[in-house]
Amino acid sequence: MKKNILITGGAGFIGSHVVRLFVNNYPNYHIVNLDALTYAGNMENLSDIEKATNYTFVKGDITDEVFINRLFEQFQFDGVIHLAAESHVDRSITDPLAFAKTNILGTMVLLNAFKNLWKDNWDGKRFYHISTDEVYGTLGETGLFTETTPYDPNSPYSASKASSDHFVRAYGETYGLPYVISNCSNNYGPNQFPEKLIPLFINNIIEQKPLPVYGDGKYTRDWLYVVDHAVAVDLIFHRGKNHETYNIGGFNEWQNIDLIHLLCQQMDEKLGRPKGTSKQLITYIKDRPGHDLRYAIDASKINKELSWKPSVTFEQGLSKTIDWYLNNSEWLQHITLGTYQEYYKKQYK
Ligand code: NAD
Ligand code: TYD
Repeated sequence: MKKNILITGGAGFIGSHVVRLFVNNYPNYHIVNLDALTYAGNMENLSDIEKATNYTFVKGDITDEVFINRLFEQFQFDGVIHLAAESHVDRSITDPLAFAKTNILGTMVLLNAFKNLWKDNWDGKRFYHISTDEVYGTLGETGLFTETTPYDPNSPYSASKASSDHFVRAYGETYGLPYVISNCSNNYGPNQFPEKLIPLFINNIIEQKPLPVYGDGKYTRDWLYVVDHAVAVDLIFHRGKNHETYNIGGFNEWQNIDLIHLLCQQMDEKLGRPKGTSKQLITYIKDRPGHDLRYAIDASKINKELSWKPSVTFEQGLSKTIDWYLNNSEWLQHITLGTYQEYYKKQYK
């Protein structure tokens, strides 16, 4: 019998890569992609698989309890892979309540619907919650986040994700709900909305606009190519242990300013501009409040237990990402019109 799998947030950046992988690799699954199509959701991300016979798109809001309960009754989901979220730290600073609503309440509505559907009949069922390394707060110059690092979130975004992680665990302990959680480092790659560092800077370099570096640019992130994240999600969904957390990271730390220099160099080469052209666009601006200094993941658990490791180096992944944006200028143009301009003016005034 076909299994019905719900993927939430599948029209977003990471979600679209996860949906594509599951639709293509699992003809025995019926994949239902539920997405509210907020500013971050984009049907163009999935145009290549939208007609697949094992795929259904549903537009809807995870915080709408009546609608969600009805959807679970209709499709009797065996598994849930939950990615829908408000995901950008800067937006969480200007509108924290939107993050509490979607990320905390929305997750609880899904957990409740899953619990009410299956009661105690959990055989073969699984709720997979996709989270972030930002729940662990910030590292100093040394050390890595492991699965047992205490939660210490600093932004409204990371606090809302931490809270949702706690609710998932609580449903596991209290109701026996079979869950897995993964906490992943910064993703980059095709289809990322140009509010996050890498696609925003690619777009600005194309348009020869200033590159707004927060503070001194010495903040460090651990970058992972999005397709490698999707592969890890597949492994964890199928082979991860119940009630466990897996950290996913790129073994790939970069200080922002070094990453930006590499990006400028690759973009100059690809655009045929003289060496050093894009670097001149770098503009240091006021720092982000509560800016976490450093994130870095110890991914040895997923590496050992599920034999997962990233498939590309950062130089390769970045080059593929830039090529994608240069070859998909219409995608970029469609989403950088209208409300994006308003956001940009407000954020970078
Ligand atoms: P994104 O912002 O690109 O996409 C989020 C998607 O969720 C969008 O399609 C949006 O329309 C949808 N959505 C938002 N609110 C919704 C609601 N109320 N109901 C239904 N759908 C809604 O985000 P992303 O970067 O792809 O992140 C996906 C998940 O992965 C998030 O849970 C995020 O916390 C987590 N994560 C992201 C990163 C990263 O670097 N981007 C790293 C680790 C974890
Ligand atoms: P971002 O892509 O927003 O991811 P996160 O804050 O979730 O790690 O930012 C990555 C790093 O880049 C972070 O240290 C903030 C910095 N940054 C800038 O310097 N300028 C920008 O315009 C943006 C969006 C981010």
